[in-house]
Amino acid sequence: MAETLSALRAECLACRKCGLCETRQNVVFGAGAQDAKILFVGEGPGEQEDKTGEPFVGRGGQLLDKYLYHVGLSRETNVYIANIVKCRPPQNRDPREEEQAACAPWLREQIRLLQPRVLVCLGRIAAQLLIRPDFRVTREHGRFYQKDGRWVMGTYHPAALLRNPAQKGDALADFCALREKLGDLGFRY
Ligand code: URA
Repeated sequence: MAETLSALRAECLACRKCGLCETRQNVVFGAGAQDAKILFVGEGPGEQEDKTGEPFVGRGGQLLDKYLYHVGLSRETNVYIANIVKCRPPQNRDPREEEQAACAPWLREQIRLLQPRVLVCLGRIAAQLLIRPDFRVTREHGRFYQKDGRWVMGTYHPAALLRNPAQKGDALADFCALREKLGDLGFRY
């Protein structure tokens, strides 16, 4: 078992546990502060992420960074960002169940090594895997649930917000709720 994120990353970069390894350009392991206590989890890499090996670098990523900045967070200082699947599904289709299952141990190990206090699920795929299989983002976004000793919240995926800007206000309110939760938990940042 890897004992650091960088050792885990090295193992993950060589992963061939599902078919997505055949079409990927790069594994997108995750990025952010190595001592982050807040972990954001997206769905899977898109085109830009596949090209660069970095999570959330496209237009959705810019929007995510803007919301993070609004509540005093950033991937440089206090947040880590990962995905349910580390390799891009062709044509950005949803990752299949077997792909999610094959990739799950990597996220599990990321969580074991980081020990985040708060997890934020970006979009349905992450929320249904990490909160509840029938989680509905439109109904339950911004609510905090306790799971395995940590707080978990689901919010809109940035790509969904680009498609549907009417939901941006709700998403921003979710980030404000996150700031409040972090305050309640005694985070100073
Ligand atoms: N969408 C995701 O879910 N993750 C990324 O890293 C980029 C886009």
